[in-house]
Amino acid sequence: MKLNTHAMRYLTNEDFRVLTAVEMGSKNHEVVPTPLITQIAGLRGGAGVARMISTLAKTNLIAKVPNAKYDGYRLTYGGYDYLAMKAFSKKGAIYSTGNQIGVGKESDVYVVASETGEQRILKLHRLGRISFRTIKQNRDYMQNRKSASWMYMSRLSAEKEYTFMKILYENNFPVPKPIEQNRHCIVMELIDAFPLRGIEVVEDPEKLYSDLMALIVRLGRAGLIHGDYNEFNILVYPSGQPILIDFPQMLSIDHQNAEEYFDRDVDCIITFFERKFGYVGGERPDFEKDVREKRSGDLDVQVAASGFTKKKWRELDAYRAEFLSDSDSEDDSEEDSEEESDEEESGSEQEEEGSAQESEEEEDENKEKSAEQDSDFEDDLSASELDFKKATLS
Ligand SMILES: Nc1ncnc2c1ncn2[C@@H]1O[C@H](COP(=O)(O)OP(=O)(O)O)[C@@H](O)[C@H]1O
Ligand SMILES: [Mg+2]
Repeated sequence: MKLNTHAMRYLTNEDFRVLTAVEMGSKNHEVVPTPLITQIAGLRGGAGVARMISTLAKTNLIAKVPNAKYDGYRLTYGGYDYLAMKAFSKKGAIYSTGNQIGVGKESDVYVVASETGEQRILKLHRLGRISFRTIKQNRDYMQNRKSASWMYMSRLSAEKEYTFMKILYENNFPVPKPIEQNRHCIVMELIDAFPLRGIEVVEDPEKLYSDLMALIVRLGRAGLIHGDYNEFNILVYPSGQPILIDFPQMLSIDHQNAEEYFDRDVDCIITFFERKFGYVGGERPDFEKDVREKRSGDLDVQVAASGFTKKKWRELDAYRAEFLSDSDSEDDSEEDSEEESDEEESGSEQEEEGSAQESEEEEDENKEKSAEQDSDFEDDLSASELDFKKATLS
């Protein structure tokens, strides 16, 4: 799913109002009836609204749902992206979009720029996109799950990542500076460093190894385990300083499988250093002795207190456990190719499956009364205010 900012240039204020109405309507309707869209948008003149709906559908920001019992629409990924981008634009977090630098299983990552030209990173969380097939196989399970729509899960994932990044940043952990979060997206500082996986030679592997282990231990004593601590999620400055990224799978050291996750993180580093740099014999931190017995902080508790509640944390964990492999490194390539083939499938099939998925899990949106989304309704901007220089990203 590519981020497409093309529509930003010509959609009017009123088009945007209608798009927002579809988003609001989808809180309690899997397919939002056309009259409801008109009503929420608060616009008079049926013909005008019909034209706006048609424009939005042509631009793939909303999709007409086939075989619905009544005439209605749902928001697409593209529409959700658009709403988030517009909110970022209004806040001044993003002025223009640049190249895509990462396609993960669960996210798209772009370089963007602020109004003053400062480069930043935009990460769009994409839970649900690789799961269409899996979801088909898990229909029964999905029927019983209230909170698994792609919109909701992607937003939870972004909320979690943002909240953790913020707390880590405030506690002087080496992570990117978080800038804004909206819906399923995060804007953060761009780290001008290379991912560890691409680094062929390090000056002092022993030092980097011990720095990375010290970081795992420090994190653990503060109450947290990264959960995907590997060469994909560690950026290294030329000076040798590591920066940690990618937080949607973090867990508390009080999690029932904490030790297992901790050991796996440690093993990832040990294995990588041996394979890549031929470095062996570094000290191996012990979860009980080095972390649990020396706990000195409660960032895990603070995270829950600062908005990412335990309930949300559990919901996301349950979803991840069911549908996602919990490591970047294990099966990236396999997942990537599956994802590619999903994307190559005709839009209509994807839309269809997406709506089938939603139809089974939409209830969550009723319950999720997000004040933030309501206030986004006021994010009215005229199209001319949005000057996305590089409109289309390919
Ligand atoms: N703040 C950042 N600065 C620079 N590069 C980044 C930043 N965040 C992510 N990246 C790049 O994007 C890739 C994917 O980001 P990541 O957060 O790990 O997402 P995913 O969940 O898809 O693995 C990273 O491997 C890294 O190359
Ligand atoms: Mg990653």
